[in-house]
Amino acid sequence: MHHFKFRRNNLFCENVKIKDLAEKYNTPLYIYSAKTILDHFSKIETAFSAIKPLICYSAKANSNLAILKLLVDRGAGLDIVSGGELYRAKKIKCSPGKVVYASVGKTEQEIAEAINYGIKMFNVESVDELKRINEIAGALRKKVSAAIRINPDIDPKTHKYITTAKLETKFGIDIITARDIFLNRKVYPHLNIAGIHLHIGSQITQSAPFIRAITKIKHFIKGLERKKVNLKYLNIGGGLGIVYDKEKPQTVKDFASRVLPLLKEIGLKVILEPGRFIVGNAGILVAKVIYIKDTPVKKFIIVDAGMNDLIRPSLYDAYHKIIPLEKPSAISHQLSAIKMVDVVGPICETADFLGKSRRINVKQGDCLAVLGAGAYGFSMSSNYNSRPRAAEVLVKNNKSYLIRKRETYRDLVKREEIC
Ligand code: LLP
Repeated sequence: MHHFKFRRNNLFCENVKIKDLAEKYNTPLYIYSAKTILDHFSKIETAFSAIKPLICYSAKANSNLAILKLLVDRGAGLDIVSGGELYRAKKIKCSPGKVVYASVGKTEQEIAEAINYGIKMFNVESVDELKRINEIAGALRKKVSAAIRINPDIDPKTHKYITTAKLETKFGIDIITARDIFLNRKVYPHLNIAGIHLHIGSQITQSAPFIRAITKIKHFIKGLERKKVNLKYLNIGGGLGIVYDKEKPQTVKDFASRVLPLLKEIGLKVILEPGRFIVGNAGILVAKVIYIKDTPVKKFIIVDAGMNDLIRPSLYDAYHKIIPLEKPSAISHQLSAIKMVDVVGPICETADFLGKSRRINVKQGDCLAVLGAGAYGFSMSSNYNSRPRAAEVLVKNNKSYLIRKRETYRDLVKREEIC
């Protein structure tokens, strides 16, 4: 369920006409619906209400402060992966007791800052890291909680770049090493190694891989219990897939009904780290048509947003629906009569496209909406080709808030020095 809908012939976000936002804030422009974000959060909360998990929104999906604040005020915690995301968590005053921190490469400084903030726990991804956190905790005279991120070596059946649970990926710790760590917890006197973390990948559309991974972990946990090693937390990560095109992802209700029996049997306090599920379909990227270029072999719609604004199509071959902000009139709506087009950006790269072989009928100056751009859209954007990053707007009912100003050319060079 999302709140981007046509009213008569115009696309709206909640009760705001998107064309008006494009005129007011200019393009390229990210627009998010607060109601959609909160609805998605509630869906997860409701589906899992039987076990009352801690839901740590995965900040990397969309880390704008206004969005983090919206979710944290609603009761979410945060899943962070860097000192930068920790800084954001602090900025919006997220309760430290609701922050979990993963990443294979936490630096000493990042670890110390997180300990000083008093985060709930580190999700630890290597023995080296465990040793380092133990040392830093000792030096700071703190007892620090940690979960071991286990790499369960299963295939989540998603794009290879967002698969994280196969042993050949850099993530997590293999099960044998993990067992060793738990059996020798005393080696880390400054740590309270009290949990297991799993995150098997992203945009996973079926429950089966989750079930397989959690079942593996269940046996692992039972084995530890027999050795008198008792744990407190099981963090099953994020990864729930959403609809971009014709996917039929499991609903969160289906997902919950399948994993809940397992989680109840395991009996630990559960943590979830959803990212895409919450914000993915709560955001769009609006771009304006600059030129239309009809070549002998192909027609290109050249727009003012490129791979620096939304890299998912270029990087993962991801599909995003692209629609005009105004519904075409009935006569021009005979889609089959419309020539296939590639929607491309202005960047000097062949990989700079937002969509290929689409049937879209627009003219110069019209705006297009790239759907499903709320997750890993702005957060992965860059300044490539010296392009100022887009503005971001959050819609709440009939009001819009500029939650990130468009960057300026000055912003582009302000850290640089000519010598
Ligand atoms: N927890 C951990 C430890 C993660 O690494 C991630 C995402 C999540 C939670 C949230 O996963 P989600 O619920 O959003 O699937 N840029 C890629 C996705 C990368 C996901 C990275 N990790 C994309 O645009 O598809």
